[in-house]
Amino acid sequence: MSFTADRLLLFGATGDLAQRMLLPSLFALDADGLLAPDLKIIGTARSEMSDSEYRNFARAALEKYLPADRRGRMAEFMNRLAYQPLDATTLEGYDALAGKVGTPERGLAIFLSTAPSLFGPTIKGLQSAGLTGEHVRMCLEKPLGTDLATSREINDAVAGAFPEHRIFRIDHYLGKETVQNLLALRFANLMFEPLWNAAHIDHVQITVAETVGLEGRVAFYDDAGAIRDMVQNHMLQLLALVAMEPPAHFDATAVRDEKVKVLRALRPVASNETVTGQYRAGAIGGQAVPGYDEELGKPSDTETFVAIKAHVDNWRWKGVPFYLRTGKRMPRRVTEIVIQFRCVPHSIFAGPKSKGGGATMQPNRLVIGIQPEENITLSLMAKVPGLDREGIRLRAVPLNIAMPDAFSGAVRRIAYERLLLDLVEGDQTLFVRRDEVEAQWEWIDAIRAGWAADGQTPRTYTAGSWGPSAAIALAERDGVTWHE
Ligand code: BG6
Repeated sequence: MSFTADRLLLFGATGDLAQRMLLPSLFALDADGLLAPDLKIIGTARSEMSDSEYRNFARAALEKYLPADRRGRMAEFMNRLAYQPLDATTLEGYDALAGKVGTPERGLAIFLSTAPSLFGPTIKGLQSAGLTGEHVRMCLEKPLGTDLATSREINDAVAGAFPEHRIFRIDHYLGKETVQNLLALRFANLMFEPLWNAAHIDHVQITVAETVGLEGRVAFYDDAGAIRDMVQNHMLQLLALVAMEPPAHFDATAVRDEKVKVLRALRPVASNETVTGQYRAGAIGGQAVPGYDEELGKPSDTETFVAIKAHVDNWRWKGVPFYLRTGKRMPRRVTEIVIQFRCVPHSIFAGPKSKGGGATMQPNRLVIGIQPEENITLSLMAKVPGLDREGIRLRAVPLNIAMPDAFSGAVRRIAYERLLLDLVEGDQTLFVRRDEVEAQWEWIDAIRAGWAADGQTPRTYTAGSWGPSAAIALAERDGVTWHE
């Protein structure tokens, strides 16, 4: 049923995500007049706090994390906020929580940003207090399990109280403007789609490189590692958007139907098609940084880098490798997708050997910058100016669209702004469906099982480098160079 919620209940309201992302996003939406005037936001967490103490807490978070150009008047936003302490593991406090939520006029959206171990007890508590009815939506933040089995447990627990059309699973990459723009690029332009297949594309690269290290997330990260933290969700979603067939509509069913087909077509990865790494002390931007084991305070086999050569076994992508890599402590922060086209079938500019063999051709390349640069660059061959007595010379030149220039004046929004608004308004298009999550886990579990069977442990790489040299070799043995 479609409704715009007039209550938003945030579990984990004192946590890191709430402070860094959720409160700033809600504030920004409010400042732009995008929240219904009667929307009340109720925070809950274990800490004892009154409403006014929570408002002070929220104000401090906003002062710390809200971009300077998005600051504004706080009073109206603060009036929306209330708080109810809760021990989510016991049923006792849920009636009081329901009392605080009150009776929504239209509906309630619940955002669970807590440890997954609390999902089950929280659902039970919500059920006991009558907070799961048909006017309630449930939004879940990652990690949704650590493998297929645990993700199924979570999904089953949630499905016991909410039907799929009221479950909103976050992958915050889908909230990024540039990720959505991938769909516009592919499906709002005529010129790419006819070429978007194995006949014309040689390979695809997806890189998500970060300069940050462990960031104090010791307990979580060391249990997850790069493949579960980044590939299982964000990178596979990017891959699915690149590889999917055109959906008939931009709506939740059509888009997710197409993505899941891609995820199910992923070929199991052979053991020589992955490389893992863990950073050692090095320097980034001239700044010395410690190794992962030093940050962690003990040795560990957790990978902070992974590169994978993936294949989508379907008609469109037969034989086109998708090279994926992600890592912490890389030389720079960059998320980008590279579409490497094939060479033209015949060069009319090939000259005789005696004249140097003619012009050098380079195949076209489309680079889609997701962050921090939001650029789309298409490399095209052009004639080098001259009288060509030695034959025509060619050079690749970039056709460059800087999105911030093309849309100057447009507000740069945090991914969570879009996702929270979609949650409140009930649009699931940019949320991940259960079958997608499970297809993602199935593929990831098989890779990890392969590592375990082979006793594969991460190779070391120096912080500030692009990962272990084996990752470079993974692409180079196919004649491919990572785009840097
Ligand atoms: C999160 C991961 O999902 O995404 C983090 O848990 C990672 O490890 C983050 O740093 C990256 O997000 P973004 O938006 O900064 O690219």
